[in-house]
Amino acid sequence: MILIIDFGSQYNQLIARRVRELEVYCQIEPPDIALDAIKALKPEGIILSGGPASIYEPNSPRVDKGIFELGIPILGICYGLQYMVDCLGGKVIRSAKREYGFAELHVIRRDRGGIFSEVAEDTRCWMSHGDTIDQLPSGFEITAETANTRVAAVEDPKRRFYGLQFHPEVVHTPEGKKMLENFLFPVCGCQKSWTMASFVRNSVEEIRSTVGDRRVVLGLSGGVDSSVAAMLLHQAIGNQLTSVFVDNGLLRQDEAEKVLALFKRHFHMNIRFARARAQFLAALKGVEDPERKRKIIGRVFIEVFDSEARKIKNVDFLAQGTLYPDVIESRSAFGGPSAVIKSHHNVGGLPRRMKLKLVEPLKHLFKDEVRLLGKELGLSDDMIWRQPFPGPGLGIRIIGEVTAKRLALLRKADAILLEEIKAADYYRRLWQSFVVLLPLKSVGIMGDQRTYENIAAIRAVTSDDAMTADWARLPHELLGSIANRIINEVRGINRVVYDISSKPPSTIEWE
Ligand code: XMP
Repeated sequence: MILIIDFGSQYNQLIARRVRELEVYCQIEPPDIALDAIKALKPEGIILSGGPASIYEPNSPRVDKGIFELGIPILGICYGLQYMVDCLGGKVIRSAKREYGFAELHVIRRDRGGIFSEVAEDTRCWMSHGDTIDQLPSGFEITAETANTRVAAVEDPKRRFYGLQFHPEVVHTPEGKKMLENFLFPVCGCQKSWTMASFVRNSVEEIRSTVGDRRVVLGLSGGVDSSVAAMLLHQAIGNQLTSVFVDNGLLRQDEAEKVLALFKRHFHMNIRFARARAQFLAALKGVEDPERKRKIIGRVFIEVFDSEARKIKNVDFLAQGTLYPDVIESRSAFGGPSAVIKSHHNVGGLPRRMKLKLVEPLKHLFKDEVRLLGKELGLSDDMIWRQPFPGPGLGIRIIGEVTAKRLALLRKADAILLEEIKAADYYRRLWQSFVVLLPLKSVGIMGDQRTYENIAAIRAVTSDDAMTADWARLPHELLGSIANRIINEVRGINRVVYDISSKPPSTIEWE
């Protein structure tokens, strides 16, 4: 395995993904990890990530210097390189010129089977730094340079210490993957053993030994994460797993039926179907404020889930589809508390309340790996590539009060939109695409009749991680046919508008 020390770079999850794409397992740990814990992991190599700090700042992050005595190859990237240089007796100074963006990289030494084996002599790299190396520690030599940075890469081949001032993990360094590959295989001697088939084998064993003959409950939403978690657990412990599906009445058209057909009838899973539409609608009656709606939906979900779970005998575990980025972020020393923009609805409050132990079989995986895993476990592309759907569902896509009548309108319009988006082959290219029902009416004309009906907004965005998003430049013809069909087929909607706001400053959902 490869250990990545997290010095706070915005790119460090990318380092981990690159390593895993090369089929080597890696883990990201904070700099305060103890040396004994590092030894216990038995890493074949260590990568020190970049970070926003300067090495000469008093509180700059530091990892135990003992790592340099372990005889393990180390690759320092940006701040990680500067940390290594500082620890080993070299000198880092503030550079006269900050360097940010593309730079032409000239490789000086690539003849020793190191990081630059088979990399072109002249290539491009992505720089992002304000500090630079002034003096190298003994044993090191310069292996690459750019016009502005004399020390763009270094190595101490004897100790197998390597350093890159630029970022090999980003796509803007075209040969970066090759450099990481060189570090993993010739340098560290890693084996390619991180595949989804091996992950399934190991997880099944681990789940069985943790759970024994006890029972596990899981909240199945039909989204990618909970579906894949359910499939993995089902493979490991069969009917010791009970999945609870809460029909809150805020789902898309035919959603509940589809999930049941797949998991209950096709995969023969043990599913408790909680029909709670009326309960949610009653709780939402008369409520217009988005935050209140979110809180109510979250609270009623927990009540319904709780009461379903109580009906299952001998439950000791709650399974959740937590992913690796959540794990990394929740313990990051750099993230800091951020302002609550929207109260997210998830089952985070459940374990404490229900006194259950947590099983999180996906907690080492990135989203793209969860998809590969889903495929490995037999889920169709349709399931694996589903767009995200928020926990509060259509409840936050009806602006203003949520009523059964408005839900029916929105469901129909939304189904038409999805049908058209899929037919035009846009579904997978979009992060999300959906309809929002506005609390406004407008005048229209149908036949010779005046109409005074609802307005629907189409929202379609591209995004990598939902932190930022851009409105999708959908072809006008496609928008036209969606609008046409909604107005013609959904009685009660006579106008469709397209949302052309990006995030930030807007958000993806309207509430
Ligand atoms: P916003 O609207 O904040 O949404 O830009 C970012 C992403 O999060 C999804 N979303 C939620 N997901 N529970 C969820 O599981 C929620 O309460 C929730 N609210 C928003 C949203 O669909 C988008 O993908």
